[in-house]
Amino acid sequence: MRVLGIETSCDETAAAVVDGDRPTGARILGEAILSQHEEHRPYQGIVPEIAARSHLQHVDRLVAEAMDKAGVGFADLDGIAATGGPGLIGGVIVGVMSAKAMALVHGLPFLAVNHLAGHALTARLTDDVNFPYLLLLVSGGHTQLLIVEGVDDFTRLGTTVDDAVGEAFDKSAKMLGLGYPGGPAVEAAAARGTPGGFDLPRPMLGRPDCHFSFSGLKTAVRRQAEAIGEDQVDDLCASLEQVIGEVVADRCQKAIDEFRDRHPTGNTLVVAGGVAANRTLRRYLHETAADMDMRLIAPPPKLCTDNGAMIAWAGLELLRLGLTDELDFKPRPRWPLDPDAPPAHGAGVKA
Ligand code: KG4
Ligand code: ZN
Repeated sequence: MRVLGIETSCDETAAAVVDGDRPTGARILGEAILSQHEEHRPYQGIVPEIAARSHLQHVDRLVAEAMDKAGVGFADLDGIAATGGPGLIGGVIVGVMSAKAMALVHGLPFLAVNHLAGHALTARLTDDVNFPYLLLLVSGGHTQLLIVEGVDDFTRLGTTVDDAVGEAFDKSAKMLGLGYPGGPAVEAAAARGTPGGFDLPRPMLGRPDCHFSFSGLKTAVRRQAEAIGEDQVDDLCASLEQVIGEVVADRCQKAIDEFRDRHPTGNTLVVAGGVAANRTLRRYLHETAADMDMRLIAPPPKLCTDNGAMIAWAGLELLRLGLTDELDFKPRPRWPLDPDAPPAHGAGVKA
């Protein structure tokens, strides 16, 4: 089975062809990606209108490039997948409309992929992970712990009551004048600095549930940013990374306990989403997993940040189960993985 996947929900336009034939395992046959970082950099954040226009301008070329690299034509494909949400709606519409048009013209099934499921299922493409597993999803808009029991079967254990962890990186970077995108900039600065010299809060540490909170940390970074000189920015970034590593590891410990209550022999923790590219965070997660007899699966960094292969793969998983979509599918700006999850309440904060 071969599926073309298109990703346009945020600030990368990406396409890839993935082959899922057994017993050779899954393979990425060809991929192409265009990041819009330069276009958004002057604004130090993503401007939705610029993003949508850029996706529209480039998506056809990237699809052609991915298929060229894969050495396949439409006749060699079994389906066409696109991110159907959640995300910036203008961009999602561009990807969905392109995929629908190609599916219609070439008589192929269309698959609308939940972007978060794309991140969540990537470890099955890269490491052939079986269900069930515990998932830490850390991206620009989401911070969640979920039990994954099937392609479309997610139970949310925890979420953020305010900001996502990626926002903590991005907003801190902005306050510290490190530019956009923030996560990689903070990581680079932190690598030059020494952690420990700053008094930063560790929100939610030790709480009995699996939720997260990052807005207090952001406020603390702002206060420190106003007080320090340029020569201390690297050290502050190193401290920020350390604190994030500690709280995320603590929340994962709680989630591992809950996961084990439900699946006593479960032993896999998967980390996914753009922030999973962060090496300090990966180190903390490795330690936590090892301490708790779990194995950590962390896909290569370029498959943690947004890409086309994750959408092609998730589409392929849906196609195998016959879960195709109609051409009247409506793009979804919001699309929770676990629609039944109760709302999370923080320390006086409602989410
Ligand atoms: O998954 P993703 O590419 O897009 C969304 O779906 O949101 O995640 C983007 C987020 C941004 O907040 C970005 O700053 C963060 O991932 N990120 C990182 C790193 N690389 C990307 N955060 C920390 N360290 C990194 N190396
Ligand atoms: Zn993403």
